Order: sequence, then C-alpha cells, then structure tokens
Amino acid sequence: MVGRVVSVGQALPHESAAEHVTGHALFTDDLVHRTPHVLHAHPVCSPHAHARVTRLDPSPALAVDGVVRVLTVDDVPGVNDAGVKHDEPLFPDEVMFVGHAVCWVLAETLEAARLGALAVEVDYEPLPAIVALTEAIEAESFQGGRPVVARGDVEQGLAAAAHVFSGVTEMAGQEHFYLETHASLALVDESGQVFVQSSTQHPTETQEIVAHVLGRESHAVTVQCLRMGGGFGGKEMQPHGFAAIAALGATLTGRPVRLRLNRTHDMTMTGKRHGFHAQWRVGFDDDGRLVALEATLTSDGGWSLDLSEPVLARALCHVDNAYWIPHVLLHGRVARTHKTSQTAFRGFGGPQGMLVIEDVLGRCAPLLGIDPVDLRRRNFYVDGQATPYGQVVRHPERVAVAWDQVVSTGEVVRRREEIAAFNAAHEHTKRALAVTPLKFGISFNFTAFNQAGALVHVYKDGSVLINHGGTEMGQGLHTKMLQVAATSLGIPLERVRLAPTRTDKVPNTSATAASSSADLNGGAVKDACDQITARLREFDEGRDLPWDDLVREAYFGRVQLWAAGFYRTEGIHWDSTRMTGHPFKYFAYGVAAAEVEVDGFTGAHRTRRVDIVHDVGDSLSPLVDIGQIEGGFAQGVGWLTLEDLRWDESDGPGRGRLTTQSASTYKLPSIGELPDELHVALLEHAHEDGVVYGSKAVGEPPLMLAFAVREALREAAASFGPEGTSVELASPATPEAVFWAVQRARGVTCTG
Ligand code: MTE
Ligand code: MOS
Repeated sequence: MVGRVVSVGQALPHESAAEHVTGHALFTDDLVHRTPHVLHAHPVCSPHAHARVTRLDPSPALAVDGVVRVLTVDDVPGVNDAGVKHDEPLFPDEVMFVGHAVCWVLAETLEAARLGALAVEVDYEPLPAIVALTEAIEAESFQGGRPVVARGDVEQGLAAAAHVFSGVTEMAGQEHFYLETHASLALVDESGQVFVQSSTQHPTETQEIVAHVLGRESHAVTVQCLRMGGGFGGKEMQPHGFAAIAALGATLTGRPVRLRLNRTHDMTMTGKRHGFHAQWRVGFDDDGRLVALEATLTSDGGWSLDLSEPVLARALCHVDNAYWIPHVLLHGRVARTHKTSQTAFRGFGGPQGMLVIEDVLGRCAPLLGIDPVDLRRRNFYVDGQATPYGQVVRHPERVAVAWDQVVSTGEVVRRREEIAAFNAAHEHTKRALAVTPLKFGISFNFTAFNQAGALVHVYKDGSVLINHGGTEMGQGLHTKMLQVAATSLGIPLERVRLAPTRTDKVPNTSATAASSSADLNGGAVKDACDQITARLREFDEGRDLPWDDLVREAYFGRVQLWAAGFYRTEGIHWDSTRMTGHPFKYFAYGVAAAEVEVDGFTGAHRTRRVDIVHDVGDSLSPLVDIGQIEGGFAQGVGWLTLEDLRWDESDGPGRGRLTTQSASTYKLPSIGELPDELHVALLEHAHEDGVVYGSKAVGEPPLMLAFAVREALREAAASFGPEGTSVELASPATPEAVFWAVQRARGVTCTG
C-alpha cells in the first residue's frame, strides 16, 4: 500500500513553470479583471523627506470625474498603524520620506484616481531631514535596541596580535525589484467578512494589521496569497499597509478595492535592503590566523523600525561567516534616516554582516603578504569551535570539502597561473580569480517563528489536496511540498494538488522567510501525511490494498481521511538580550570561485567563469535548488557589482528623493552580466539529520556566493598596482567604483 513511490529528490520543474511561461499563472492583480465594480486606489505622496502636514483638503479630488472617496485618517475605525512596532502610522501627520502616502484616492478607474490624487490639497511645513547614513551617525539619529555580541577579551586579543589593522566598510542597500509590484484586492461579503488577496509573504501578519486597522478581530479577516512574482523579503512586512488601505476602502464603499503600486511608486514608497556602515579593528597572528575582531555595525533603517532590529541581529550573527575568531566584540545600531523603511532582503542582514569580514580579509591579505585563498582557507572553523554567540558549528568540514572541490574541479591553481601570465602580458586589462566560502544559519532567530501548520485532505477517490502555511514567490516551495506529500503518502505526484495559501485554512503562520519554509511547512505536511498513513496502515491490516481501494474502504470503515499537521523546530533557543544561544537548527554552506576581467581605462568588468559547490543537504528538488543557487548568486552579483541606489543628498528641493526609481536608472543584473561559464554542483553526502527528508534550506544562502566576484574584482584592480597592493573597493563595485579602485592601485591620487 503506502510508501512506494518516492518523488522527493527528483529533478522536477517548478509546479507552475508551464503557467508562468504561458501567462496562465494568476497573480493578485490579475484578479481585478475577474472582479466587477472594482475601485482603484492611488496614493497622494509627500514631496518632502520630512515635513509636518499642516492642512489636508480632499474635497477638490471629489470633484474629479470618477472619484468615489478619499481615505484619510478620519476613516480609520481601529488603530492608525500599518506595522507591528507601532511606529508606522497608516495616515501620517508627519511625513518621513519622499513618497510617504498621506491619503489615498478611490476611483472608478486608475486614471481617475491618479487625477484625484493630484487634486488633493496638502500643505506641508518642511522639517530638517537626515538622508545619508553617515549624516545619521554624526547626528546620532538612531532607533531601536543596541545589541552587542561579545566573546573573550577583544582588547587583550588585539594587544597580543602580531598584526592589527583598522578600517571602515560601507555597503549600499538594494531594491528588491520583484517583477510583480505590491498588490492587494479587498472584498467584503454579505456578512461583513473581509477577504483580502495580497501579494504577501506573511498572510497572518497582513491579516492582523488589516484587523487592527479595521478594529475587527482576526476571524473577520481572511488573507489569501495565490503566488507572488517575487518577494525576496520585500513582501514580508511591507504589504500590510497596502492591504489595510484596500480593506478599509472596501468596508467603507462596499465595493471591491484594488491597490497596485506602479514601479515608480513601488520603488519610492517601499523599503529596501539596509545599507550598512562598519568600523572595525582586526588582529591576526603571524600565520594570518584571526585573533580578534572589534566592529560597530550601523544599518540604515530608514524612517521606521520595520524589521531593522532582527535584520541587525542576523547581521551580527554572521560577521564571523565561516571563520573562527577567538575574541570578538560587535556593536550594532540602527540609524533613523528620512528614507523608505528598509526591510528584509534575501539574507536578512546576513550578507551585510558577512561582507564585513570578507572585506577585512580581502584588504588585509596583501598587507599580511598572504594569498587570499590561503588566508581564507586557514581561518575556517573546525570541529568543536563555536560562533561568537555560542553555537557550536556542526559539520564545519563541509566548508573545507566544498572549497577543495571547487579548487579542483574549477582548476583554480592552473587558471591562476594562466591569469598571472595574462596579466603580465596585458597592461590595460587584468584578470583575477577569487574563492570565498559561506556559512549561513537556518531558522528564525526569534524562536517562536519556527513553527508551521498544514492541512492534508484525502478524498474518497484517492486524490489528495494539501494546504500549508507558506507562500509561493517563485522559490519552488509548493513544488517541494507536493513532493513531500506524495512521498510520505507513497503515491504518484499527480494525485496531489495544492491549494492557495490562506489564513482560514492554516492559521497563525510565520512569514515565508529565513529560507526555512520547506523545513517548517515540509515538517507540517509530513506530520499530517504521517497521521493519515498510520490510520490507513492500521485499517489495511497487512492486506496491502492498492491506494484507491484502501482509501475507499477506509472511508466506509469511518477512518478520518484528513489531518492537520504541525511542526516546530526542536533544540533551538536564543537570548536576544545577551545575544547568545543556539538560534539555528543548522548551517548551510557553500563555496564559489569567480574569475573576472577588468578594463583599466573604464573599470568595466566581465565575469568569465564561476564554479559553485553548495550544500542543500539531500535535495528535496534538485532542479528547484539549482535554480535557487543560480538566482541567488545572480541577485548577489547585482547587489555587489551593479545595483546602485542613489538618493538626492543635496540641499536642493529634491533632497531625500530616490533618483534611481526605475529600471532605466537602476541597473539590474541581466543575462549579459552572467558569467560566461557557470558551473553549479550540489555538495554530495550532505544528509542533514532532523530535517524533512534530510534536506537543507536553500533560498537565501546562495546570494552570498557572489562575494567571490567582488573579491576577484578587488584582486584584478590590485594587479594594476605593484605587488602587495591593498585595494579598497566600494560596494557596489560598479564599473565606476572599480575604475577608482584601479586608479588608487596605480597610486594615482585623485579628488574624485
Ligand atoms: N526565489 C524566488 N524565485 N523569488 C523570491 O522571492 N525569495 C528568497 C528566496 N528565494 C525568493 C526566492 C527569500 S528572501 C527567501 S527568505 C526564501 O526564498 C523564502 O522561501 P523558502 O523559505 O521557501 O526558501
Ligand atoms: Mo527572506 S529576506 O527571509 O524573505
């Protein structure tokens, strides 16, 4: 009977791949065309980075043809707040960034709503604005907690170190640029129940915010997410306010309300990856072993806290990356600036923390006279060592195994010789090859989020319908959940169908985030299937009936054919005050080797070849996992080498405006920036105990494989200078930034 067909581990296409490429897949905003009498919402946005709203008169908008209503603070029956920290008024009386919505216009058409928004009269009293992160640091404009991670005695460590260096590392943020912008569609039914379809990674939290804005209980609000056209963390907390506006409009007008941001609104109104500033001192012994690291990390939180505190915590927990550092003292703070509220973005602060140590190693290697490949390799964690926050690093040897595999299959030694010969022969073009490791903690630091639920229905005909608490944003979670259900029930994949994520099916869900959704929801789906299987086994009494017969007979035998599953991650704990504990179920590992070529005249660069070995445990779905590795890597390359968010930092009238607010000014990675050759391998013999079918999370970690490209660019720039040149490279390492790095390496002093 049960347990015969295994579909986990099979290389299957994404469950919606055909729908995606044929345009049949429905996204939230596609539902508008199936919804009669829908009203369209348009924001009235602040032109100031910081100002008090002294007068708001919506009446001229009501005179515009097609305008039905203007939503203002007076309409809020519940709490005027769009966040969970209670620092994000839905309708603000003080605007905190350019683009901040002061009110929303509802109209018969989007164009009428836009014209209505133009007609709304708003008077502002401008206030001083802090735009750059460095300005915030100088003005001591901070928000939220100031966590500290400490181990050993950093002063003693630095005093004893043979070599001590110090520096500053700055890195820019990143726009999510999901293909689908934020979208919500709200309806009210005959009994006043509110139904919101939302492109949200966290339906439960969207439900809670909608409920508190409406002054209703959670059971009066249902949130559904069909799928997202990308979330990347940008839809973890940012959708709530938009869903609340749509829901408020629907309850007040009795008509469906649709809110979909256009690209400019999405880029100017919603939060991005946090830029970080880090000041550090580091000590090495004579062999280049890390002895001590002291650093202060300041993130640019934007105008409100949002997820800035947990993002900072993850950054601090990842400064060590894959390296053992005996003495550590890390300070963290979140700056408040008058910009969008920066938020989750693939890696959730982890990449920013890790970039600090990779930048330190990349800059210090030439000063120590040690090859960066050797310097990194000799600082890896080994068995028994613990992270600065006290978690013993399990399977540290996997980094070394992946490293050695990349070095050998990537023919790193031979190619570096070729590169040396090439560089000697070329004055104006230089190549370099760098190798970097990654270690990324899997689980939410906040222990309570590490739980999930699922609902599995077996119908009388033997077909199965599953529902779980996670959302699909392209990462292939639904594909994996189908494979898990089919495998644990032992039936072919075609017998299982998956229904959209909604809060009235599985309640109290965590965000689909922290890469943990397959672990968590997979555990819950499997739990539900296991319950059903156990009942069927008992009923079967060794008769070994075929599935369909067994199910039918079991129904007549009054066996419950459906189950609710639950999963919680065991063995994790975290003390957020002392910043110690065992927050992660396990670590994901990976290694990348990247070869680049840099043009000395322009700084233009090209990635010639990349070799990756990445640890996903026993892959649940190898095609999906390889797609995540390639996609994550490419997105990391975008963050580190191309995507350049610029805000107007002048004192002119545009101060605080995002000047890169469309694809024409914000350079995204495209097929042309991909490496000429890209080799991705999954680490073998990587079974992980205690996780669903021995698998590991994959969503975020591969982004950090892109460090190899940045380090290769640094080394290529350095080869324009004399042997042993240490190069400071801005992040993003755009062609312009690489050009200046080349100039510095050449010893050209400039005021650029
Ligand atoms: N992949 C695609 N295609 N689209 C996305 O939006 N988000 C990433 C990652 N991979 C994302 C993606 C982020 S930020 C996370 S946390 C994980 O997927 C979330 O999904 P998982 O928990 O199922 O891995
Ligand atoms: Mo991902 S940044 O945890 O949504």
